[in-house]
Amino acid sequence: MTSDEIRKKFLDFFEKRGHKIIPSSSLIPENDPSVLFTTAGMHPLVPYLLGEKHPLGKRLADVQKCIRTGDIDEVGDYCHHTFFEMLGNWSLHDYFKKEAINWSYEFLTSPEFLGLDKDRIAVSVFAGDESADFDEESFRIWQEIGIGEKRIAKLPKKNNWWGPAGETGPCGPDSEMFYWVGDSDKIPESFNDDNPLWLEIWNDVFMEYNKNSKGIFEKMERKNVDTGMGLERLLAVVNGFDDNYKTELFWPIIEKLEELSKFKYGDKRDIEYIKNDEQCWVDTRKYFRIIADHLKASVFILGDEKGITPSNNGQGYVLRRLIRRAIRYGKQIGIKTFTKEITEVIIEIYKNAYPELLKNKNFILNNLQQEEEKFEKTLEKGLKEFEKGIDPFILFTTYGFPIELTEELAKEKGQKIDLEDFHRKMAEHQKLSQTASSGMFKGGLADAGEETKKLHTATHLLNAALRIVLGEHVMQRGSNITAERLRFDFTHSAKMTEEEKKKVEEIVNQKIAEKLPVNFVEMPRVEAEKIALHSFNEKYGEMVKVYSIGTDGNYFSREFCGGPHVLNTSELGHFKILKEEAVSAGVRRIKAVLD
Ligand code: ALA
Repeated sequence: MTSDEIRKKFLDFFEKRGHKIIPSSSLIPENDPSVLFTTAGMHPLVPYLLGEKHPLGKRLADVQKCIRTGDIDEVGDYCHHTFFEMLGNWSLHDYFKKEAINWSYEFLTSPEFLGLDKDRIAVSVFAGDESADFDEESFRIWQEIGIGEKRIAKLPKKNNWWGPAGETGPCGPDSEMFYWVGDSDKIPESFNDDNPLWLEIWNDVFMEYNKNSKGIFEKMERKNVDTGMGLERLLAVVNGFDDNYKTELFWPIIEKLEELSKFKYGDKRDIEYIKNDEQCWVDTRKYFRIIADHLKASVFILGDEKGITPSNNGQGYVLRRLIRRAIRYGKQIGIKTFTKEITEVIIEIYKNAYPELLKNKNFILNNLQQEEEKFEKTLEKGLKEFEKGIDPFILFTTYGFPIELTEELAKEKGQKIDLEDFHRKMAEHQKLSQTASSGMFKGGLADAGEETKKLHTATHLLNAALRIVLGEHVMQRGSNITAERLRFDFTHSAKMTEEEKKKVEEIVNQKIAEKLPVNFVEMPRVEAEKIALHSFNEKYGEMVKVYSIGTDGNYFSREFCGGPHVLNTSELGHFKILKEEAVSAGVRRIKAVLD
């Protein structure tokens, strides 16, 4: 079965069961500062899970592109990836456990769909603890379907609970489905979640709780279903591969890398090197996998319509790390420059499912090549520093030299490096950077609620005011909101004068003083495009939400937007621009607050 077939079967299956199909959202979350990337299919749907009405109704399904960097150290095995696609279906306060579980099982096992072997399926449900009850309902539903008790594990929160996305918000017990990927004559009678041959393939989350600011799980009136199934894994399982990289979503990349490298992907042609005077063998598959995974993620980040480029912060920093890591691993299997060749292969694999890649091909290629060149220079500089005998920790933090590389260089010169000292400094460094970044993971749209809503509405006012003061060429290029401030990127080629900034502030504060109502309507996209501001780069569904600020027939602002917003501008307080600066050629950034 091909990946195209699986995507289609999944969407058809849920469409026939009353779901509307929505397009994949951007990899870069809109208005959610709690994470850098879209990490799950539910992520762009948070406002709707919190109660906003979705223009397409209560049943949705999609294939969402996702990036997760939390597991980056696991990448290199057969089934972990930074970029992946998630198949998902949602019930927004509509059907619940019975339908969700039965449909999951039917899709997996019915010969009309995936036709997986029923005998190889096991599941898990939430066991219950002092804060929330045992999910007996799911347990019963699985029994009724015919899953034997030994194949239903009751597991704690650590395994069978999902969410909230931020510190507070909707969350709940989940039920996971596993597939035995070991030999057919060794299928165990009982399910044991410690055995990796039981591979998790689908997760049905039942959002029936709300975690409040006191950390208490309250039962919710409004219940949602959120499911997620990784396409890469599923494709491998359905086709009987024991390695996701052998599927059509990776194999052409591996083949190309083999062509460019002096090694083959597989056990027999390992790298031999000397470490602590012992002979060690490294499985080259790890190198091939990391390169393939990281370059694929990089191509998707660059190919996303938000125009992220390698930099030293935010998404750009993750992108930079992914590219540089791929290059480093490439060097270790004898590949010099390769980003262009591999990009072509990746775009070829995905050009139908994600046409934005082909569209942005030049942008992707240019940035990858530039970064490759920059990194080359950094490596050269680092080498010079190394010659001077610089600290391996400084080489790592300043020049991006991985300790393995420094070790190798030292070995060539017959020197020894103080590993203990390096690891101690690294541990301190990580502790510090975690503290620095933890602030950032606090307070997403889900929990910072009111403050972010206000700043979100202020962003719409700012957008309209900028168009009045600077001109109609002003277009939103991105926005990012935390509970404390808003950040708004827009097209404009000159630095704003003090006078212009003052004028913009005045207009926004004037509109706040006018106590304008904020409303939305749902309408067909083609109609909405005629009347409201929208991004030319974004993919929208057939029906869209248009938020307006102002009274009937006299709108100050109208924009395509998913919400949420305050009900009236009078809730906003006083608007103030803190900073106006350049982001890149032709793009400016404003940071502003409400006080
Ligand atoms: N949101 C759930 C997950 O990512 C479905 O596993």
